[in-house]
Amino acid sequence: FPLKSLNTFGLAATARRYLRVSGAAELAAVMADAQLASMPRLLLGGGSNLLLTRDFDGLVLHMSGAGKDIVGETASHVLVRGAAGENWHGFVQYTLEQGLGGLENMSLIPGTVGAAPIQNIGAYGAEIKDVFHSLTVFDMASGMVRTMDAAACRFGYRDSVFKHADGQGLAIIDVTFALPRAWQPNLRYAELAQALLEAGVERPTPQQVSDTVVAIRRRKLPDPAVIGNAGSFFKNPVVTREQCAQLLAQFPALVHHAQPDGSEKLAAGWLIDQCGWKGRNLGAAGVYPKQALVLVNNGGASGAEVLALARAIQADVHARYGVMLDPEPVFV
Ligand code: EPU
Repeated sequence: FPLKSLNTFGLAATARRYLRVSGAAELAAVMADAQLASMPRLLLGGGSNLLLTRDFDGLVLHMSGAGKDIVGETASHVLVRGAAGENWHGFVQYTLEQGLGGLENMSLIPGTVGAAPIQNIGAYGAEIKDVFHSLTVFDMASGMVRTMDAAACRFGYRDSVFKHADGQGLAIIDVTFALPRAWQPNLRYAELAQALLEAGVERPTPQQVSDTVVAIRRRKLPDPAVIGNAGSFFKNPVVTREQCAQLLAQFPALVHHAQPDGSEKLAAGWLIDQCGWKGRNLGAAGVYPKQALVLVNNGGASGAEVLALARAIQADVHARYGVMLDPEPVFV
């Protein structure tokens, strides 16, 4: 089964079997089928954080459940639930149409609602863990449906339990967010605050913040429908304060941001840019000319080519800065 149109990198890999599943009953049916249950499995959402390095000799389960709704209210929050297969940006727009803020900084992130918790998607100073309430999973091993709260999801920077061994086999069916009634714009990210100021917006609405984020993203990031990519290919590396100070002594322009725990987050895009990779290609894989953190498929690239490019970048950044870049997408 061809997976080319199911991964935003547009890589031409195949799967042995492919099934669209929308909820617990269909997942249970898959597990009740001895042949399907014994195959290696890949749970697929929007395919926007995936690097298919070769053909997948197993079963792809495409999480396709649809539906979004307000499911509860408290004095301070409104609970909104989206099924796993809902398009993320469409879901964000739905919450804005309901007059609810909280997700606007994460507008236009490619992918689905069900995939959002897997890497705790984030942008412009916000992460979904900030507004997360709970999610429902189908446990492929036990056949049980269960609810997980934020603590159980173990959210970290572009990370959660679902990227680790003990989270494998948990299929996310739907996700619930707690959106605040008393909304305040989150303008911690300087570029976003600046763009709103330049547009003459002093007290933005959630929709205005969303529109501004969309405009910034369109300017800097390639549209996966036009140029294959998976967003940031590497995480921004976190180093100790001491290591950061040593690097700063040698590279005074180093872009770094102090973290609440005293560590320092470096801008991987800056490191890659400084190594001269921005806009360079290796075969049909390349580094996006407007944002060095994004690797792109210039047309017909294989997963192996993207991987070779990633390895070359890692080696250069490590040789120059002593920092190992950690990829963000899931490798298959
Ligand atoms: N920079 C360069 N050259 C480049 C790219 C960036 O010098 O080619 C510098 C910029 O000048 C800036 C710094 O690096 O000083 C950070 O760049 P930017 O603000 O563009 O953000 P980022 O750190 O590269 C992160 C997220 C993005 C998210 C943006 C906005 C990660 C891995 N990436 O990128 O998330 O949209 O911030 O919040 O945390 C994603 O995860 O797929 C993603 C796109």
